[in-house]
Amino acid sequence: MRSSILTFSLLGGALAARPWLDEPDTGIDEIFGDVPDGELIPLDGIVGLPDFQYAARKYMPLANYSYYRNGAAGEWSYRRNLESFGMYPFRPHMMRDITNVESTLSTTILGHNVSAPFFISPCSRGAYGNPAEKEKGLIEAAASRGILYMAAFYADLTMEEIGELKADNQTIFRQVYLDRNDTATQEIFDKAKAAGATAIVYTVDSPANGVRHRAARFGVGSADSSYSYITWDEYERLKTMTDLPIVIKGLQTVEDAQEAVRRGVDAIYLSNHGGRQTDGVRSPLEVAIEIHEQAPEVFGQIEVYADGGVRYGADVLKLLALGVRAVGLGRPFMFANVYGTRGVEKAIDLLRDELAWDAGNTGVASLKDIDPKIVRWSPPAFGAW
Ligand SMILES: Cc1cc2nc3c(=O)[nH]c(=O)nc-3n(C[C@H](O)[C@H](O)[C@H](O)COP(=O)(O)O)c2cc1C
Ligand SMILES: *[C@@H]1O[C@H](CO)[C@@H](O)[C@H](O)[C@H]1NC(C)=O
Ligand SMILES: *[C@@H]1O[C@H](CO)[C@@H](O)[C@H](O)[C@H]1NC(C)=O
Ligand SMILES: *[C@@H]1O[C@H](CO)[C@@H](O)[C@H](O)[C@H]1NC(C)=O
Ligand SMILES: *[C@@H]1O[C@H](CO)[C@@H](O)[C@H](O)[C@H]1NC(C)=O
Repeated sequence: MRSSILTFSLLGGALAARPWLDEPDTGIDEIFGDVPDGELIPLDGIVGLPDFQYAARKYMPLANYSYYRNGAAGEWSYRRNLESFGMYPFRPHMMRDITNVESTLSTTILGHNVSAPFFISPCSRGAYGNPAEKEKGLIEAAASRGILYMAAFYADLTMEEIGELKADNQTIFRQVYLDRNDTATQEIFDKAKAAGATAIVYTVDSPANGVRHRAARFGVGSADSSYSYITWDEYERLKTMTDLPIVIKGLQTVEDAQEAVRRGVDAIYLSNHGGRQTDGVRSPLEVAIEIHEQAPEVFGQIEVYADGGVRYGADVLKLLALGVRAVGLGRPFMFANVYGTRGVEKAIDLLRDELAWDAGNTGVASLKDIDPKIVRWSPPAFGAW
């Protein structure tokens, strides 16, 4: 098992941190360790979302894998995204009737019916993992399972191609990066609408280039060295250019969330870009906790989505408990897409089961009405970070 081990051992280990494992050891290497690099382990052998990372790492060329896996700089925020879920433990409520919890998974996102409160985050470059089908598996699996798909601006399929693959009853949002060329912006908005996208996702967390050491070794880092004009004024102007709702992706403080409410934004999306943009920022779970503690009304005033480091149903449940309406996953679905549609469907099915089971085991009768007290939100003990 390849693991990055980060241990600072003081006085013979009495205060040693637990080793940090990018891929938790649940035995997959004992079963599939002999499968040669460049080959796919059987999909039947996958039992949880982290397994897709193991499979993709073995299968993909290192440069391709590094593009997906990469985090900014020393990847501390990438780690923090993963680790912060463990810092806030459950306080499960027992003796509740949870037998109908599965029937409460479906929800609406900006008014669109979806079968589960999680979705596929916008990720560029599906061809790095699946050169033959690109994003097709993500689109088809989201359709057959009834979840939201957010198409990345730098998807390897064009918006027209995505629109052709889109099922009639499917909900797709279009993520955008914009420069200040109104002609180009108008075209992007119009194409998104013509292809059947029902919202624009405006990514605001990357106005400058990202420091991406792992990816830079392979020339697969962010190629955008320019500075982008991304401001509240610009958002107001963009609003006049489309009648689609605009979701603001990448907010990371309670103040910015409150500003979005004041400005009547359609929905906000807490994200640090999967720890790929600014190393040293908090995880979106921590940002959601900040809103929960300082301005909990925000969750009732505006739809709030979040992503970053979600790998288990339990992680989704913690974000939902704070009032987050829907939770996104980036890398797990990109790794699953190496198998195409069947892989992404399996990832969705696994996550749905985990979410329902974990809700049941923590005493959540309905995912639409979760007591935030099922998690201990007080800060982790000193020294945790
Ligand atoms: C390979 C890759 C490409 C991404 N490309 C984009 C993008 O083009 N636009 C965007 O808004 N976010 C992009 N993201 C960020 C994701 O939308 C999402 O915020 C992040 O992956 C969530 O973290 P997770 O991978 O731990 O689930 C990308 C992430 C990855 C891993
Ligand atoms: C969404 O779900 C509701 C409740 O189940 C249903 O009444 C409505 O027709 C659905 N809308 C669409 C567009 O499918
Ligand atoms: C790696 O990614 C490149 C760029 O998308 C693609 O052309 C190539 O086929 C990928 N390699 C494999 C083995 O998937
Ligand atoms: C759309 O139809 C497909 C196929 O019937 C179904 O599996 C899926 O759940 C539906 N999506 C929604 C959002 O109802
Ligand atoms: C603005 O976008 C249009 C349409 O994509 C393009 O033709 C034009 O060259 C762009 N203008 C500038 C100054 O880049």
